[in-house]
Amino acid sequence: MRKIAVVNMKGGVGKTTTAIHLAAGVAARGARGLLVDADPQGTVAQVLRVQPVRTLIDLMLGADAASVIIPSGRPNLDVIASTPAAFTLDAQLAGVMQRETVLRRALSKLTYDFVVVDTSPAMGLLTYNALLYANELVLPVSMEPMALTGARQTLDGVEQIRLLWPEHSLNLLAVVPTGVNPATHASRATLEALQRDPRLNDALVANGIRQCIDLTYAVAAGQTIWEYAPKSRAAADYTALLDRITASGGDSHDSSYGQVEKAQTVV
Ligand SMILES: Nc1ncnc2c1ncn2[C@@H]1O[C@H](COP(=O)(O)OP(=O)(O)O)[C@@H](O)[C@H]1O
Ligand SMILES: [Mg+2]
Repeated sequence: MRKIAVVNMKGGVGKTTTAIHLAAGVAARGARGLLVDADPQGTVAQVLRVQPVRTLIDLMLGADAASVIIPSGRPNLDVIASTPAAFTLDAQLAGVMQRETVLRRALSKLTYDFVVVDTSPAMGLLTYNALLYANELVLPVSMEPMALTGARQTLDGVEQIRLLWPEHSLNLLAVVPTGVNPATHASRATLEALQRDPRLNDALVANGIRQCIDLTYAVAAGQTIWEYAPKSRAAADYTALLDRITASGGDSHDSSYGQVEKAQTVV
């Protein structure tokens, strides 16, 4: 089972768009997928048009995974949705032991092929939970300086996690430039900065996802880009990203690590 978190400490860089297309894409190819919305804004439920009764907040407060997982309405794809109620989770979990690994324990018995976790721009408790659940990271970076800063801050957070939880395997799977328009200076400058950055260039997906307004329309219509505009450049680019990610085979080291878990506190 592959567990992939889509992260960047900057908002509006294409995290949710990418998480939805990864999860829906692998499901359309026949893998069993689960999309977990760890962003209290709850965009995933809006986009997929699901109306959850129980959500991530119930899971984090002790409900069974089975009781919060809902069908997405698409073959092979289930969802754990979120709602703004989850904004209060940090406070509600304040006194809980090992609160950074609640999600990992709550989802430990699942048997999907792919679990994709969408995250919020805040390095809060939910994002730590996502990073301590996932073994692989996808880092979308839009073509602006602040997105690059957000990417670097994300990697700082990941390094902190590696220090505190050395047993947890967490690899940078893909750095995905989003909204790329090579005709603009902003895109060229951001791509060059990504290529120069030793922490980001190894996993860089060279062409990324080109700027394509159809993505915004697709998501607004509750569709994937493959459904809404299958001939668009974003459809081709997300297909290429999916090819790359499914071919990479993932990380065989699936850390369960219950015995060695420590009670560190980072948030
Ligand atoms: N490749 C792209 N081209 C054009 N617009 C995009 C692209 N990727 C995402 N967007 C748009 O950018 C906005 C932010 O994307 P979103 O996925 O919600 O970001 P995040 O989850 O990081 O906040 C949305 O309006 C989305 O439709
Ligand atoms: Mg989002």
